[in-house]
Amino acid sequence: MENNNKILILYHSGAGSTKTIAEIYHKMFGSFFVDISSINFEFDYELLKNYEILILAFPTYHCSPSTSMMEFINNIPPLQKSKKAFAFTTCGLCSGNTLREFAKKCLTKNIYINGYSVYKAPATDGVLLFPPLSFMLDYEKNIANKIKSDVNKIEHIINSNTNKAKIPRFKIYTIFSYPNKVLGKAYKHKLKLLRDKCVGCNKCVNDCMRKCWSRVGKYPQYKSNRCEFCFKCVHHCPNEAISLSKKTRTKIRFNEKFYMKLKEEILQRLNDAI
Ligand SMILES: Cc1cc2nc3c(=O)[nH]c(=O)nc-3n(C[C@H](O)[C@H](O)[C@H](O)COP(=O)(O)O)c2cc1C
Repeated sequence: MENNNKILILYHSGAGSTKTIAEIYHKMFGSFFVDISSINFEFDYELLKNYEILILAFPTYHCSPSTSMMEFINNIPPLQKSKKAFAFTTCGLCSGNTLREFAKKCLTKNIYINGYSVYKAPATDGVLLFPPLSFMLDYEKNIANKIKSDVNKIEHIINSNTNKAKIPRFKIYTIFSYPNKVLGKAYKHKLKLLRDKCVGCNKCVNDCMRKCWSRVGKYPQYKSNRCEFCFKCVHHCPNEAISLSKKTRTKIRFNEKFYMKLKEEILQRLNDAI
């Protein structure tokens, strides 16, 4: 029988780790009506009324939810009627209190996080900042089973008559990650355009939702004032013309091809598990 429950998956993703999982979720809700969209600053918040549950997905950057996702939630006018939601974050190593911070922010808008999850994903910063470590290049081993179990949880939330906000507990060990939280956010990387490699395709200009790249003359120009250093431009430049510095021209890139391969592998594992 056709199920009319409406789910909206709203995600923010830099290089693509979060987007990949959000797209897998999209394929998983067989009998439910599901829409998926990347967040953007022109989003029509009135549309939220049409959905029974939101799935909110975003990366952990410097032990917090990504700035773009927090700004997106901040801009939502408080909803008249409380809305059910499920949140997940992706992280390279440890998400700390990211989901707690996010769930509290959502509550101010009448969005109740009924369930949440964390997925260990390729470390999109680590691969550029440190010598590549193999465990930082993949999703966690058990990811297929975890996605399956989280999708079951969401179906349960949809079918339940209650809407109960769950705020994750404060994790005391995250005190040790305060230097990362404070210094990481304060530090401004100097993204460089390698003019000898740039072919002027404008991908960086079109891709950047924070409008950090603009085309002025022959080459794109970068302004760091609104940049949250998601490194999408570095990873996805088709000619590897954007770099953190001229010296560290790492060859590893998390681009469309890279994520397509990982997505196929996870979907295969999910099929095998069914
Ligand atoms: C600027 C930046 C800061 C990050 N900070 C953290 C962090 O504090 N803890 C962590 O575990 N991973 C951190 N990561 C890794 C990301 O959380 C991880 O790679 C995530 O899956 C990226 O998702 P995306 O590709 O959708 O942007 C950071 C990545 C970036 C780019």
